[in-house]
Amino acid sequence: GGVECPRRRSKLKRYLWRRDEGAPVDEIIMRFLAGEDVLLDRELFPYDIRATAAHVRGLARIGILAENESGRLVALLEELLREFQEGRFVLDERFEDGHSAIEMFLTERAAEMGAKVHTGRSRNDQVAVATRLYLKDRLLHLAELNGQIAFACLQKAERHADVPMPGYTHLQRAVPSSVGLWMGGFAEAFTDNLALTLSAWDMVDCSPLGTAAGYGVNLPLDRDGVAQELGFGRLQVNPMYAQNSRGKFELIALQAAAHAMQDLRRLAWDLSLFTTSEFDFVVLPEAYTTGSSIMPNKANPDVVELLRGRAATVEAAMAEIQSVLSLPSGYQRDLQLTKAPLIRGMTCSLQALAIVPDMIGGLALRETVMSEAISVEMYTTDLALEKAASGVPFRTAYQEAKSQLDAVDAPDAAASLAQRVSPGGCGNLLLGRIRERLEQQHSRILEKKPI
Ligand code: ARG
Repeated sequence: GGVECPRRRSKLKRYLWRRDEGAPVDEIIMRFLAGEDVLLDRELFPYDIRATAAHVRGLARIGILAENESGRLVALLEELLREFQEGRFVLDERFEDGHSAIEMFLTERAAEMGAKVHTGRSRNDQVAVATRLYLKDRLLHLAELNGQIAFACLQKAERHADVPMPGYTHLQRAVPSSVGLWMGGFAEAFTDNLALTLSAWDMVDCSPLGTAAGYGVNLPLDRDGVAQELGFGRLQVNPMYAQNSRGKFELIALQAAAHAMQDLRRLAWDLSLFTTSEFDFVVLPEAYTTGSSIMPNKANPDVVELLRGRAATVEAAMAEIQSVLSLPSGYQRDLQLTKAPLIRGMTCSLQALAIVPDMIGGLALRETVMSEAISVEMYTTDLALEKAASGVPFRTAYQEAKSQLDAVDAPDAAASLAQRVSPGGCGNLLLGRIRERLEQQHSRILEKKPI
């Protein structure tokens, strides 16, 4: 056998847009055009099928399809979804993309009827609506995970509210703090991430279907009815914007994911520090540590480190999309390149965040070690403020306290924490307010759940 010539003419694959009498399709160029698209479309396929069924029913409402035709097509689409989910229908390189696969499946089984399905739509609004449905699903999942992480942190904060630990600035010992303050901070952060995710969901909750190639069509499409059937809150009105928002909405969704991943990165950093022998404040649940292949003594926090590192994947995905989006108005094939980073960024965020709630729940706190790490000079801020409260100008009180760094007798962490009564401080954590807002935001998820 000699060297195989890679430039082969395509026989197996069929294309929706090919003229029968046209020149044979060049395999290398087609492979370049498709890229990994058909494989990525596996993520979008169920949504594409659902949106296609809604489009078919919409066509029946305006008389383009007869009742029996739309009924048959919808039944076939349900069959396709089943076969896909059971692995009997495989979306692979035989097709240019998921959209072509749907139409070919329908035309193979219902010839003439199947050939009517694309009336009044383009692959441009088809991919947009499938992506929109995908985003809505993933954002709900992201919202739920943010909620679970916030609840886990809040529970930790409530249970160990007054356990003293050092508070650091610049990674240097600063003032006595508490587990309630440390964990309460992450509870509030993930409540914000939950709220942000829900606003991202609101933003993407609009249907682009029925905008076709980006200029509308000469048919009285029932766009509102189709949008409603698909569970969208509103229409995306302008057909050109339906195309120009491709990538923009993906970025909004990834932005929500990135905030969660950035807060997770900080939490993971804290845990990787606090689990060292040098700190020894926290012990991770065993399932979250791994051994070393050479050092028998090691239990490494690999999981925590990968949680920390995953923020990079999401940020890179956003950078990739932003870079693709340097485009003029209207559909451009470049937009296809937003799909891979979107799916990569979303999938890796959800996968990382999913393991966090149980990890937080399972953290063991070494309370004595934490308490003993609060050294005497850390009380001098209390001392300065005590003097100031009794009338000494603060700058004078500060200077006096500075000259007595080790003068606090019988340092008492519990008393120091209890006296920190400024709202939100260790003696007045207001965890109830954080819980109230978290519960309120969390209940918004239910309103958005598909019925
Ligand atoms: N795979 C394409 C994409 O993701 C589908 C749309 C193709 N549209 C077109 N006009 N070539 O953008």
